[in-house]
Amino acid sequence: MSSSLFTPFSIGGMTLANRVTIAPMCQYSAVEGTMTDWHLMHLGSLAISGASMMLIEATGVTPEGRITRHCTGLYSEENERAMKRTIDYCRSISPIRIGVQIGHAGRKASTHRPWEGRAYLKNGEGAWQTLAPSAIPLAAGWPAPREMTRPDMDAVKQAFVAAAQRAARAGVDFLEIHSTHGYLLCEFLSPLSNHRTDEYGGSLENRMRFPLEVFRAVRAAFPAEKCVGAKISGTDFADGGWMPDDAVEYARALRNLGCAYVTVSGGGVVLDAKVPVGPGYQVPYAERVRKETGITTGAVGLISDPQQAEEIVASGKADFVSLARAMLFNPRWPQHAAIVLGAEARYAPQYERAAPKSWPPAKALGRISTQEVSA
Ligand SMILES: Cc1cc2nc3c(=O)[nH]c(=O)nc-3n(C[C@H](O)[C@H](O)[C@H](O)COP(=O)(O)O)c2cc1C
Repeated sequence: MSSSLFTPFSIGGMTLANRVTIAPMCQYSAVEGTMTDWHLMHLGSLAISGASMMLIEATGVTPEGRITRHCTGLYSEENERAMKRTIDYCRSISPIRIGVQIGHAGRKASTHRPWEGRAYLKNGEGAWQTLAPSAIPLAAGWPAPREMTRPDMDAVKQAFVAAAQRAARAGVDFLEIHSTHGYLLCEFLSPLSNHRTDEYGGSLENRMRFPLEVFRAVRAAFPAEKCVGAKISGTDFADGGWMPDDAVEYARALRNLGCAYVTVSGGGVVLDAKVPVGPGYQVPYAERVRKETGITTGAVGLISDPQQAEEIVASGKADFVSLARAMLFNPRWPQHAAIVLGAEARYAPQYERAAPKSWPPAKALGRISTQEVSA
């Protein structure tokens, strides 16, 4: 049996052992934007999973661009030093390719952590003024963001550039620009959150202008031999919002600026979106983007079963899959999926005695484990 999921490939000159990648996942465990030992454990554990690449969580390019006070940032020397320490550690235990997703939370910044209720911070709780393309709150009762001026936009663009330079010094293999889930760049793209009347609002071309300016500036500032990708929305899942046609146009424009890949996600711009959550619910958006633009494309969203992941890649719906919750649930998912698909995934030398070739029960246990994940 030969597996497409476990076939090597390359993105922007970066060689990858297979098509299983780890999605960026906020841990809300940083202090002043600086990674902590939690990140060593979390990313270290995922680094030895057998996946080919992993992304460090959405990392704020400014303090105000963080979702919560506990999110990672790349705006200080201390942030950069701690990220380098984490990356150096992961490299010492695994050849996995490591990237960081850089972003700005826009009107979704200044909130509590999920396990504290996700509500916006109130006065006295360390709230800060949020920024957005238009002064439209995320939902009724939420604080209104301040509409960004041209100097605000220049400052945010410069912060993206500075963060990209810090990421390069910290030693990442690649960068991802966060432009989905309703955060700042996505807010520029979506007609639901962008009501501007200048050249950054209105038509699709105008709404794409600032995100593309940011991409261009980041691409120019990041080492040419390393790739830059983007996470984009296939749809807002809301009437009057961003549509799959828009995703195709945006992916094409990104590709023309040298974007090495897109991972197609969606939603998050409004809180009352109707998301038809089910296995692989966003895969059709990735498939369309890939077919119509030819850009290297990742699929994300409720991909948890090895056969499902295999089918997505084998049928050409996406070049790779990006897994979030399945990896938290079972950090050995890639190794177990390889067992199910008759393929091989890497084990750290310290763990090689648990690989199927040296320990036959692994075959049965790997199958049970991935079935549990998909249940
Ligand atoms: C704990 C957690 C944190 C997340 N943080 C981020 C993030 O930092 N950036 C991002 O683009 N998506 C984030 N997501 C969304 C995932 O990357 C992914 O798009 C989504 O969970 C759907 O994939 P899944 O069904 O495999 O979980 C997060 C998801 C989880 C579960």
